[in-house]
Amino acid sequence: MTEIEKLTGGRPVAIVGAGLVGAGWAVVYARAGLRVKVFDTNPEITAKAIPLIRSQLVGLHRHGLVQEDPATIVARVSTVDTLAEAVEGVAYVQESVLERVDVKRGLMEQLDALAGPDLIVGSSTSGIPGSAFALGLGLSPRVLIVHPVNPPYLVPVVELVPSPETSQQTLAFADRLMQAVGQTVVHVRKEVEGFVLNRLQAVLLREAWALVEEGVASCEDVDKTVRDGLGWRWSFMGPFETIDLNAPGGVADYAQRLGGLYQRIADSRRHEQPWGQPLIGQVEAERREYLSQADLESRRAWRDERLMAFAAARKHPI
Ligand SMILES: NC(=O)c1ccc[n+]([C@@H]2O[C@H](COP(=O)([O-])OP(=O)(O)OC[C@H]3O[C@@H](n4cnc5c(N)ncnc54)[C@H](O)[C@@H]3O)[C@@H](O)[C@H]2O)c1
Repeated sequence: MTEIEKLTGGRPVAIVGAGLVGAGWAVVYARAGLRVKVFDTNPEITAKAIPLIRSQLVGLHRHGLVQEDPATIVARVSTVDTLAEAVEGVAYVQESVLERVDVKRGLMEQLDALAGPDLIVGSSTSGIPGSAFALGLGLSPRVLIVHPVNPPYLVPVVELVPSPETSQQTLAFADRLMQAVGQTVVHVRKEVEGFVLNRLQAVLLREAWALVEEGVASCEDVDKTVRDGLGWRWSFMGPFETIDLNAPGGVADYAQRLGGLYQRIADSRRHEQPWGQPLIGQVEAERREYLSQADLESRRAWRDERLMAFAAARKHPI
């Protein structure tokens, strides 16, 4: 019996909310061998789900990232018309509905009414702690945040964030499930808005907006600085390892040499409204010079192709 069969008892999983992230999750679970039921309240999104999942799998196959025939993997995925059908007989639900507390709470209450005694629910929320929508239900000990990066079948990290009511067994199940389907697990030990990934991203974005607002650099040059600079190392090591290697004596030596600079940079920033309307308009105009609104979709496909080539390269030691 495989690890996944042990965990799920051979039962399928369900995706609730089949937008960008839900469809990506379906790929993750189906390529790992699980049967996947997909439900969305919007019939147009439901109708597009299987073709989208198929095209993503074809891309992965072309890049050598899945060995199995894409048609065989897609055959494990089915769409259903009701939440009750989605939840029936599944071991795990990956909630991927809109990023709104009221929508997530409403769904948790519905799931609470439908769930069997051992159903576990992982929420894809980008930054809302479970305390805001998953407390006080019979289901609550079996709910936690399982936050992916988009698209989850190409970017492996997931953040696991328990609420104060999440049980240890639920956390252990999610940890094992994520490892079994090939994701990289990060444990967020305390509930905090934005978790770790989006808090790190928030700091970088806050400074990026400010540099453009102050005329220090164009938004294209800020992008170049990350794309052809910081991002090169960050694609295979994190910020702590980066600075550990950037001073002869390691991280403490780095802090001794450059701690003052970073403190002065931090002191120079008081961001009351880093994402103000005039600034958003300026950055929007500059971005549209490089990429028209109409080309956003094809550029997303380009990004996913680049990620697939990158993932194929990452399979080899650097
Ligand atoms: N887009 C990203 O980069 C990203 C990354 C990580 C996590 N997330 C999180 O994943 C979740 C989904 O985001 P998305 O980008 O896929 O959004 P999306 O708008 O593409 O998809 C959300 C889907 O949920 C459906 N929906 C709404 N209410 C529903 C309900 N009660 N039952 C079933 N379906 C319902 C909608 O019809 C829609 O298709 C959000 O919580 C978001 O914060 C997004």
